[in-house]
Amino acid sequence: MNELNKGPLAGPCRVVVLISGSGSNLQALLDDAAGISSEYSIEAVISNKADAFGLTRARKAGVETQVLSHRDYGDRESFDQALIESIDAYQPDLVILAGFMRILTPGFVRHYSGRLLNIHPSLLPKYQGLHTHQRALDAGDSEHGVTVHFVTEELDGGPAIIQASVPVLADDTAETLAQRVQVQEHKIYPLAARWFAQGRLRMVGDRTELNGELLPRNGHRYHGAEDPVAE
Ligand code: GRF
Repeated sequence: MNELNKGPLAGPCRVVVLISGSGSNLQALLDDAAGISSEYSIEAVISNKADAFGLTRARKAGVETQVLSHRDYGDRESFDQALIESIDAYQPDLVILAGFMRILTPGFVRHYSGRLLNIHPSLLPKYQGLHTHQRALDAGDSEHGVTVHFVTEELDGGPAIIQASVPVLADDTAETLAQRVQVQEHKIYPLAARWFAQGRLRMVGDRTELNGELLPRNGHRYHGAEDPVAE
């Protein structure tokens, strides 16, 4: 059923990253992939927007880029089919959504089942969808954060892999809160990519397994660089 991560790969894990915008998470992944101990390589970055700054980041890092505009396709299915063809040309082991602002069709999600990751700026299952920082402020939450999860057909609903939290401060705005959450995003997304590349991460039904053990439903809670599970 699920195309599960089948354990250690023969070579470095081949990754394709999809973006629509600034690409600060892409940058964190590019930097990590360029590190001496990295076990994954970013083969291509694909954007649905020609002016996405993330494309510049990719080119600077010497990574191939492609633009595939959803506006050139009549419907969601044909865009997603073209996207699959573009992605699969790079034979990726892992596909990473990094601020890719398109809702994907069930067919696309099924095609990459168990090897498709997303990052969502909230402590899922809280605040699926948009405007997560403002919603956390409006609710008077004392903590907020970010989740990396496997993508399934349920929007922002797939099995959680890792979460990081930040305290909500009395004078926070959606912008200041977003900035602090992003610092955490840039730590946990490369970590999840490494785990996958090392064959330690698997989607098992509606749960995530790390090192052969089921994680809590909210994923692993990241505790910073000294986190014993982090390395
Ligand atoms: C991030 O906040 C991420 O959580 C969300 O989209 C944003 C992308 O930011 N999915 P960037 O393009 O990586 O800077």
